[in-house]
Amino acid sequence: MDVSSTSVKDRSGPVISVHDLTKIYPAAARLFGDGGKEKLAVDHINFEVEHGEIFGMLGPNGAGKTTTIKMLSTLLTPTSGKATVLGLDVVKDSMKLRPRINLVSGGERGLYFRLTGKQNLEFFSDMYHVPREKRTKRVKELLDLVGLTDSAEVRVENYSRGMKQRLHLARGLVNEPEVLFLDEPTLGLDPEIARETRNLIRNLSAGGMTIMLTTHYMFEADEICDRLAIISEGRIKGLGSPYSMKDAVRNDTVIEVEAYEINGGCKEKLEALPGVFAVSLENLEGRQLARMVVEDGTSLIPKVASILEGHKIISIRVDRPTLEDAYIKLVNAR
Ligand SMILES: Nc1ncnc2c1ncn2[C@@H]1O[C@H](COP(=O)(O)OP(=O)(O)O)[C@@H](O)[C@H]1O
Ligand SMILES: [Mg+2]
Repeated sequence: MDVSSTSVKDRSGPVISVHDLTKIYPAAARLFGDGGKEKLAVDHINFEVEHGEIFGMLGPNGAGKTTTIKMLSTLLTPTSGKATVLGLDVVKDSMKLRPRINLVSGGERGLYFRLTGKQNLEFFSDMYHVPREKRTKRVKELLDLVGLTDSAEVRVENYSRGMKQRLHLARGLVNEPEVLFLDEPTLGLDPEIARETRNLIRNLSAGGMTIMLTTHYMFEADEICDRLAIISEGRIKGLGSPYSMKDAVRNDTVIEVEAYEINGGCKEKLEALPGVFAVSLENLEGRQLARMVVEDGTSLIPKVASILEGHKIISIRVDRPTLEDAYIKLVNAR
């Protein structure tokens, strides 16, 4: 039985299905962060993505986002667990799966700088065996879609960062993927181009494509994702719509203290207070802003003040939690 041809039309089951997926990088290159020790990068994660969804994986650097997306796009073999995309096992059925998906990673790599934008897309179309008679039309459409028609004949070495990123996206579409994986699609782009990129992603989704992306920008996840997984230290700390994430902090309060010389030691003391869920510290010019997600703001203020005794306090205020606070709380959850 040809499973692949039936699953294309089958929209009842999840498009991506992940069970206890785990990746341990072997101890090898001492050059790497934790050189000499093996690294548990993804730790028994579970989630599903439905047809046409934009699913985001949100988390800080080193959380395991790229590792996850590489396993799902068949570039990296999981250590244990199981994942299927379009009903196909990412390990056993990788050859069947590859033509039906694509991955776009940001940055400078993966394009041919000596070739023009158009030539790049022609080259990648050939890699995916797009028939010649379709190729010309497809390349033209893709250049148009990402706004590079006017620069089609310009060598990529002369492209700006934003133009390269848009070409990357077009490259990811040459095989008309049913599932598109995007690793940090707006990383390092200026705000306007990042916004255009998000619009493009939304349009692709509206056209029926299933999209899974990673980001460490909270607002981006909030703005664009139907659902998201918050990942930290290889584990999923929260899963749901951006709106439902706010449930995690619905009954909490935020205390915001602006003062001089709040250091890591103070932060640890604040974190250790009973009823404190998370503390984030931001450096302002010559002073710091500590934002604490707490159970009950009013009763905690005297304790906070006593920890910060001797520091010049500029202000203490109580605030309502935002989605960002929910994120910080979930990322910090044990
Ligand atoms: N090839 C590798 N060998 C060893 N450790 C790695 C390798 N790639 C990534 N890591 C480590 O695995 C963890 C997760 O990395 P990554 O998936 O790139 O996180 P993210 O994309 O969320 O920033 C990090 O601690 C990183 O240093
Ligand atoms: Mg990454």
